[in-house]
Amino acid sequence: MTPQTLAKIAAARERVAKSKYIVAFTGAGISAESGLDTFRGDDGLWNGVRPEDLATQSAFRRDPKKVWSWYNWRRAMVAEAKPNPGHLALAAAEKSWPRVTIITQNVDRLHQVAGSSDVIELHGNIHESRCTKCGLVHDNTGEILDDEPVCDDCGKLLRPNIVWFGENLPHEALARAWTETANADIFLIVGTSGVVQPAAGLVHDAKRAGAFAIEVNLDMTGYFGVADISIYAPAGEVLPLLFGGK
Ligand code: OAD
Repeated sequence: MTPQTLAKIAAARERVAKSKYIVAFTGAGISAESGLDTFRGDDGLWNGVRPEDLATQSAFRRDPKKVWSWYNWRRAMVAEAKPNPGHLALAAAEKSWPRVTIITQNVDRLHQVAGSSDVIELHGNIHESRCTKCGLVHDNTGEILDDEPVCDDCGKLLRPNIVWFGENLPHEALARAWTETANADIFLIVGTSGVVQPAAGLVHDAKRAGAFAIEVNLDMTGYFGVADISIYAPAGEVLPLLFGGK
């Protein structure tokens, strides 16, 4: 890391050390060092694939097998993935700070596996499925699903329990995310391009409510100038430095 980056980490660390309530808002970038692809960028999941062919209700109605086989492929990769030092640093911070909440756009459950106890999932969870008829949510962690799985309860087609384009976020999760964002004194933005609403807007809500915002990303994003400090380096290296040794 450059001296400039280390100086920004030191400045951020001073603010973090004094804080009472840290809210971390995370995206696919925090899981990149666990071997999971992000969505945008050259190697992203949406590169060469049209999201509307895979992650919308109409795509699923048109071809549920195609959608399920894509999600099953991703489920297999997530099943292999382990939390990295970024997830682990956030989980360990619970021991030294009064409150830490994670608001994540990720569906991989790696924050929970790392040991974080308060995780708000805004975009659902890839381990779960939901019945298209009765709405029952099934936890399929560790199970191999076929390409047209059906509900144990009513026998109708299951869908991934993921928020697709054009769908609302789960009401309860979004309401909690707004509440916790308004209470945070540190709002940490990690590994997200910040282009998917309404999640991306939480950063502006946090700033309006008076939080100190720290961004960690490999590259510059639209949060440049919105965040009080932007640190451009891998989350798995920065987060242990922000939280370690307290
Ligand atoms: P994106 O793929 O849009 O952005 C990932 C961000 O992580 C980029 O800004 C990268 O520069 C950054 N990044 C990559 N590796 C990193 C690392 N090691 N350390 C720090 N930063 C790193 O992913 P999201 O912002 O999460 O929605 O995308 C938001 C939503 O769009 C996703 O939840 C998904 C997608 O469509 C659904 O599936 C509902």
